[in-house]
Amino acid sequence: MVTAASLPPELTEFAEMVAGRLLALGDSLPEPLRSPVTALARRPAKRLRSTLLGACARLGAPDPDRVVRLGALVELLHLASLLHDDVVDRAATRRGGPAAHTVVGQERAVLAGLACFALAGMEAAAIGGGLDQLVSRTVAGLAYGEMLDVERAFDTALSLPDYLELAERKTGDLFRLSCLLGAAEAGATADLTLALGQFGADFGVAFQVLDDCLDFRADAGGKPAGTDHLMGLFGAPTLCALAADTSGELAELVLSPWFSEQDMPAVRALVALRGGLAAAGRLARERYERALTTLDGLVPPDVRRVLVATTEIAGLGPR
Ligand code: FPP
Ligand code: MG
Repeated sequence: MVTAASLPPELTEFAEMVAGRLLALGDSLPEPLRSPVTALARRPAKRLRSTLLGACARLGAPDPDRVVRLGALVELLHLASLLHDDVVDRAATRRGGPAAHTVVGQERAVLAGLACFALAGMEAAAIGGGLDQLVSRTVAGLAYGEMLDVERAFDTALSLPDYLELAERKTGDLFRLSCLLGAAEAGATADLTLALGQFGADFGVAFQVLDDCLDFRADAGGKPAGTDHLMGLFGAPTLCALAADTSGELAELVLSPWFSEQDMPAVRALVALRGGLAAAGRLARERYERALTTLDGLVPPDVRRVLVATTEIAGLGPR
């Protein structure tokens, strides 16, 4: 697996500073809300969003302290969204450990997430520079994306454009924000900022498609196989296969009232047979290629290399 080791040492150091700041933010919460946040903050994580932010900031000569604080802010937003997502998705595990709501209860997990969103807003206002509106707009986008995700449960006819819309909102927007904040700190031009935002959004969607593929692999991403399918959340591979399955066999299987984890090998086999895994792989690659093409001629090679290394940490390969 490609790890943070493929990043330049400055960004590995940056990741450590971000992790420290994230813990300090979590520690500032009153105890009933603190422990679910700090417990999750301490688990190993890819830190893609703050790494993107740090990489984009390298386009200029930013204030290092502001960049670390902004990196921790995007990780805090991500962490808060995960606390909520695991309640919504009824997930038992997160990052290889128990999901917060299974330890402290749903109410405390949801309230801890809300406290983190508020803390991130305060942090954005304190950092200054007019970034707070952008942060708040993104949080609203995340909530909307998660709502779309909830509404489409058990929808075996969800169209690809509708799937992409929800992936852009629930995942792409936070990746986009991370790039935009880094670009702002670098003092990037409007054109470059736009391109970096588009890169982040496309990378986020490609990452979400890959994440959907993990629902077929036992304990990949720290959760058991089939977790999403059991909730009726059919990811990109299954949706592509459903669209191609004129027999109706796959829809019948995933909509069965007796559907269980034991059915996942049969779902996987049918999805593969109908070309769903291959189609999802192509979709991820198309978004990934589009993300990189957006940067062509705009970003110097050293920053491009770091952005590509970040996509590799996410499991996406270079062109
Ligand atoms: C993970 O998706 C979830 C997200 C990327 C976004 C979650 C956003 C929210 C819960 C909105 C909360 C916002 C407010 C303001 C309360 P996934 O379930 O596909 O990924 P997973 O496999 O990591 O669980
Ligand atoms: Mg989830």
